[in-house]
Amino acid sequence: MKQQKRKPEQEIIYQIYPKSFQDTNHDGIGDLRGIIDHLDDLRDLGITMIWLCPIYPSPMEDNGYDVADYKAIHPHFGTMEDMDRLIEEAGKRDISLMLDLVLNHTSSRHKWFEKAVQDPGSKEHGYYIFEKGKEEPNNLRSVFGGSVWEKVRGRNEYYFHSFGKGQPDLNWENPALRQEIYQIIEFWKEKGIKAFRMDAINFIKKPEKWRRMEADGPDGRCKCTKVVRNHPGLLDYLHEMNEKCFKSDGIVTVGETAGLPYDQLEEYIGKNGCFTMVFDFRHADLDIRSGDEWFSRAEWKTADLKKRLEVSCSHIQKYGPGTSFLENHDQPRVTTKYLRKDQDDPYGKKMLGMLQMGLRGVPFLFQGQELGMINFERTDVSELEDISSIDQFGRARECGYSAEEALHFVNLRSRDNARVPYPWNEEKYGGFSDADPWLACNEQAQKRRICFENQKNDPDSVLSFYKKLISLRKSSDWSDTLNAGRIRFEEGNEEVIAFTRQKEEKELLVLCSFADHPVKTLCRKGTLILDNYKETDMNVKVDEEGMIILRPFEAMMIETEKRRENDE
Ligand code: NOJ
Ligand code: CA
Repeated sequence: MKQQKRKPEQEIIYQIYPKSFQDTNHDGIGDLRGIIDHLDDLRDLGITMIWLCPIYPSPMEDNGYDVADYKAIHPHFGTMEDMDRLIEEAGKRDISLMLDLVLNHTSSRHKWFEKAVQDPGSKEHGYYIFEKGKEEPNNLRSVFGGSVWEKVRGRNEYYFHSFGKGQPDLNWENPALRQEIYQIIEFWKEKGIKAFRMDAINFIKKPEKWRRMEADGPDGRCKCTKVVRNHPGLLDYLHEMNEKCFKSDGIVTVGETAGLPYDQLEEYIGKNGCFTMVFDFRHADLDIRSGDEWFSRAEWKTADLKKRLEVSCSHIQKYGPGTSFLENHDQPRVTTKYLRKDQDDPYGKKMLGMLQMGLRGVPFLFQGQELGMINFERTDVSELEDISSIDQFGRARECGYSAEEALHFVNLRSRDNARVPYPWNEEKYGGFSDADPWLACNEQAQKRRICFENQKNDPDSVLSFYKKLISLRKSSDWSDTLNAGRIRFEEGNEEVIAFTRQKEEKELLVLCSFADHPVKTLCRKGTLILDNYKETDMNVKVDEEGMIILRPFEAMMIETEKRRENDE
């Protein structure tokens, strides 16, 4: 079947973590064939694009975000033939693929880096960031802990890594390196890939000189993000890459741009921007005080979440389509994060789906979110696999927290929460594999019987509700309003997030209650389009004060009369 040409804002993107989706060859590791086997399920869900986390050969120190060869497939995942088949079979179902491009760094096992270390006179040495000296050039801390500098064995020379020491940063100053990168992108475009997610792309510009920074932790170091994230000059590279690789071929790109100041958005996603969309993480990180330290927990209220969403959406809508997401492979489950003690409440779970699908921005769902997956509670640090979780546990201990407290913070935030095997059914390993999986299943979710099979034929399940939301967004009278309508946040009860979406003469009002009890809030009369409770009057009425009572975690999408222009 020929793929339909969609505008980016018409996409519904589903993120797959290949290692944990479906194993087909009994090694406990998910693979490309496993994804092919479930394409019909994904089509039935209604998605239009799959964002595939890295599938390249890698020593897996950071689960594939340490790439050893950009133009090949890790044998764990299968072969290039499997990849070609996945692209083709997905295409038959009108689903396209978005590949994860990790271009800030490679693995230290990439042949470029091996050459660079062996031979300081090689061209590959110029592909990385080396500094000569007997001591570390400065005191920056890498994202995964410890110094950003690693000494080259046998030489007075250090290489720079923003993330793990197995992830040396590439030197984008070097035009020859940039050419290599553009060739990698061409390679995948020729295979039919039309979309890319650009990993840590706002780290690629480094300062000319390395200075010692004021310490921000007991280790005497300072977070490297203060220096190497969104560094001036970054846009020159991004615009060049866009010109050379994306622009003329209509490639869809999404930049992972944590901390991007809103006043720079135009350069990124405006008319002549370098990407189609960018991720803004401010709402996702509202439970931690700084974006990086999981042990610095922040108290927050629904009104804080509303404020962050409002600020983000109102800036982004001036320029481009934006993204709407609640989860990804670096985030914990949104049920536990936003519903807290009510993490398993079915109304709450559906309300979060309504929030995401109602917001402005291309929806990105993360595997398992559509089932209402919850976080796990690991009982020992040895059960953690993720490099960042292990580091955060140690850092929390260093900062004086007990082992129990440190584990609690890590359970709340561990990236493994999202990365556990997908629960297809109630068999031993959740139908993910018949062998012991690479990462233990989520027992708490298993006890609550959260799995695909239990939900797929139940019209009342979280999964069925997500299907309704996706179909509203994709193919209903409301598609245009939801995909491209303006967003405006509305007044109301402080435990309710309310906003309108409006395009031409049509207007939708979305109300999402985060309260576990009934609340009274402002509303307008209209016709109900969708509600997460079954028994609801289609005719939405309000009292003399324009109020309505929402049941616990109730979410409503209402067709209202368009407000008069002078009301706006
Ligand atoms: C961001 C990715 O999403 C994360 O999983 C990874 O660890 C870092 N970038 C480094 O590539
Ligand atoms: Ca496998």
